Amino acid sequence: MAADEISVRPAEDGDRSSLALLLAAVAEERVGIAAEPPIDVETLTTICRIDGTLVALAEGVIVGEVSVEPSWMGFGEIGMMVAADWRGRGIGTALVAAAVEWARARELHKLALSVFPHNDAAIALYRKFGFVAEGRLVQHVRRADGQLWDLIEMGLLL
Ligand SMILES: CC(C)(COP(=O)(O)OP(=O)(O)OC[C@H]1O[C@@H](n2cnc3c(N)ncnc32)[C@H](O)[C@@H]1OP(=O)(O)O)[C@@H](O)C(=O)NCCC(=O)NCCS
Repeated sequence: MAADEISVRPAEDGDRSSLALLLAAVAEERVGIAAEPPIDVETLTTICRIDGTLVALAEGVIVGEVSVEPSWMGFGEIGMMVAADWRGRGIGTALVAAAVEWARARELHKLALSVFPHNDAAIALYRKFGFVAEGRLVQHVRRADGQLWDLIEMGLLL
C-alpha cells in the first residue's frame, strides 16, 4: 500500500478499543515500547488518551498512532507505534509529520521523546525529521525480566 493510501486523523472516542489492542500487540513484542504484557486491555480502553492522539488508517483499520502530550512548559512528549504488519511503508513517517503539524498549530516550541538505544527503526524515523539525541538515561527502565535498559532522550525544536 502506498503512503498516499494511508490517512491520518485525530483519534475519536470510538477508537479506544482499537488503540488498546494495538498497544497490547506491540507490548507483546517486548522490544520498542516500555509497556510489557500483561496489558489490561479493558482498563486501557477506558483510560487511554484521545486528546492529542492521531491515528493512521489503512483499509479503514487503525494501523498506527502517535500521541502528543503537551506540557505546561511548552514542549510536547511523543509516543507512537505502528502495527507490526504495517511497518516500513511510511506510516510512521505520516504520523510524525502529523504530530509536528499538530504541535505547531498549538504553538508548542519543541517535541521530545524517549527511545531505547536498540530501536534502530524509531531512531532513523526521528532523525529523518531532525530530532537530535540530547542525552542518555543509564539503566533507566527495569524490564519484567529484570534487565535494565538505557533510554535516549531526543528533541526537535519546532
Ligand atoms: C518505529 C516505528 C513507529 C516506525 O514506523 P514505520 O511505519 O515502520 O516507519 P516508516 O515506514 O515511516 O519508516 C521511517 C524511517 O525509518 C527507517 N526505518 C524503517 N524501518 C527500519 C529498520 N527496520 N531499521 C532501520 N531503519 C528503519 C527508515 O529510515 C525510514 O525512512 P525512509 O523509508 O524514508 O528511509 C515502528 O517500527 C514501530 O511501531 N515500532 C514498534 C513501536 C516503537 O518502537 N515505537 C517507538 C517507540 S520510541
